[in-house]
Amino acid sequence: MNRKDVQVLTESEAGRELAELAVRLARADYDYHTLSDPELTDSEYDRLKRRNQRIEDRFPHLKRRDSPSDRVGAPVSPSFEKVIHARRMLSLENAFSEDEIRDFDSRVRAYLGFEPSDSLDYLAEPKVDGLSLSLRYESGELVQAATRGDGETGELVTANAFKIADVPVKLSSEAPAILEVRGEVYMDHADFETLNERQLRRGEKVFANPRNAAAGSLRQLDPRITASRPLRFFAHGWGDVSAPLAETQSEALARLHGLGFRVNTLGKACDGLDALICQYRTIASSRDSLGYDIDGVVYKVNALDLQERLGYRTATPRWAIAHKFPAETAFTRLNAIEIQVGRTGALSPVARLEPVTVGGVRVSNATLHNADYIAGRGSDGQPIRDGRDIRVGDRVEIYRAGDVIPKVKDVDIDARPEASSAYVFPDVCPECNSDAVRDEGDSVTRCTGGLVCPAQAVERLKHFVSRSAFDIERLGNKQIERFFAMGWVKEPADIFTLENRHGPEIADQDGWGKKSASALCEAIRTRRTVSFQRLIFALGIRHVGESASSLVARHYRSIDELVAAVDAMASRNGPDWDDLIGVDGIGEVMASSLVAAFQGESRTAIDRLRAKLDLVQDAESPRTGESRIAGKTIVFTGTLERMTRAEAKSRAEAAGARVSGSVSARTDLVVAGTGAGSKARRAEELGVELIDEDGWLSLIDSPP
Ligand code: IVH
Repeated sequence: MNRKDVQVLTESEAGRELAELAVRLARADYDYHTLSDPELTDSEYDRLKRRNQRIEDRFPHLKRRDSPSDRVGAPVSPSFEKVIHARRMLSLENAFSEDEIRDFDSRVRAYLGFEPSDSLDYLAEPKVDGLSLSLRYESGELVQAATRGDGETGELVTANAFKIADVPVKLSSEAPAILEVRGEVYMDHADFETLNERQLRRGEKVFANPRNAAAGSLRQLDPRITASRPLRFFAHGWGDVSAPLAETQSEALARLHGLGFRVNTLGKACDGLDALICQYRTIASSRDSLGYDIDGVVYKVNALDLQERLGYRTATPRWAIAHKFPAETAFTRLNAIEIQVGRTGALSPVARLEPVTVGGVRVSNATLHNADYIAGRGSDGQPIRDGRDIRVGDRVEIYRAGDVIPKVKDVDIDARPEASSAYVFPDVCPECNSDAVRDEGDSVTRCTGGLVCPAQAVERLKHFVSRSAFDIERLGNKQIERFFAMGWVKEPADIFTLENRHGPEIADQDGWGKKSASALCEAIRTRRTVSFQRLIFALGIRHVGESASSLVARHYRSIDELVAAVDAMASRNGPDWDDLIGVDGIGEVMASSLVAAFQGESRTAIDRLRAKLDLVQDAESPRTGESRIAGKTIVFTGTLERMTRAEAKSRAEAAGARVSGSVSARTDLVVAGTGAGSKARRAEELGVELIDEDGWLSLIDSPP
């Protein structure tokens, strides 16, 4: 290879050498990361890389698209191409006790109008602790693979999926023309151990548990790395399909098995609650000998027509639930109690712990909930832990349930140091010194600093950019803290003017460069268009979480309609207020908090933000063109004979209608079952259209 001084290279020599270096360094990366058999020494490698950089510096226009200087180490990158799922990838409701499973079974029966004695089949199968993957086949060929992402948008990992031995690349001719198979990518224990030994030998990252190893191996920009990792896949469901797979979940899985997918052999159809619990125990007792991690058992209503009737809530199906295994626990020392101030001003006590491993994860912080919890009282004022309080210096028991934040469960009172004293909860905000108060009946102590409290402002901003909110890549907690401290970003609107005001300076910050700064600005620009639901959620309004935001968005459809309604309800009464609290799932507390956020000073901040956005997309009305009730506001009253109220409501919503609990001038239609009373009369007074159950059935069954 050319060893001439870079300063005397001609342009054509430089071009040739850059091409050679690209090949040579790519080969070296492959040897190193994938084959773990590097030919070049580290210093040789570094020397070639530096030379490549110097040539590029001298001839910037010759820089190649596959330039080695754009590749850093093992290419794990947050920047996968995004893909919108044809059908959303949902998650599961979690339950931890048999009582909760009994509730689930009762809710399913109530919804469907089944008696407790009616036979009702469920499929019970292990909940494998991995990450979900959606595989799209067209005419039997694997054309796309995507991770779950936020459920709506996932990351394209097609090239990587081709490298997983359990993923069939081609299906037999019996497969539906379009078939999206969904399942879990995971790693067996033995393979995980071997992988970690290999990583250790090579001085590379050792994974904390098989789940992390599976996720890290699938989310690789270089599919050759995925290929070198022992990933497994089993199918547990499907998304988009051009023709129904079967009539039941278990037959559908058998069909997928026939098409070449692995399905879990511990899946079993169970009639009723007792059979479910029995299968839960069977699976739990085989947990240690499976050779891979499972964290519970999933129950799914087996008949697919019943699944369809049951449908979905905002983020989870009504027809399935995860019965999780009890969380693992561990003992460690409580070194300190610190107070964090949240975006709504809540003072949250956090336990700083002597690090300990719980359920395969290293834990050094855990939540202590609130003052009562530390003192040994429940939210009802009754003793918990037999009234034992928690003190700094105590030996405490920690647990982790699923992916959630670790919690302090109990305290070993016998191990308490002699000179310890009860914890005194602060009565001022540790961040802004404003009074911290606890309202009557509230378990939480709150900072009263409101807009002057910097901690609240920072937490609101972190929430604003988070994944379920504006999802601004490259603007994580650390960056928000930095930009806030520098006075560059004080409120959400400032994020969208950051580029104009400080664009060039960002690149000069520690840990930033031109490339990452421009990627950040680009990421911000792409978020100037946002869905109505995300906008509501991003505002971080107290009591208005993700599912409430979705209810609000579906109810009002557009931000302008919401704003108009709020403006019309200066006092908490009148038809617009009744309309809001008539939405199933929105209570007075939530409604008050929402309305308050759209008034006064916080409203002006929202207006400033809106002025910086290109578009707030209206909530979609599902299947509009196909339905005669799309966009209408419907009230159900009285008893329906042929479907339960719950089912009627979700059918109406699925057809694009909004369902309200109270009749007002904004109501379009009242469906009166038998025994309908005051609401039907009110509809007549207001001249709102009134129909009976037969009228309702023909309305939803007939095309527009
Ligand atoms: S069914 C509509 N079955 O658990 C969602 N999920 O907490 C249907 N999972 O995202 C999911 N094993 O990745 C289903 N046997 C199983 C599963 C399973 C693991 C994962 C799945 C899902 C997550 C929900």
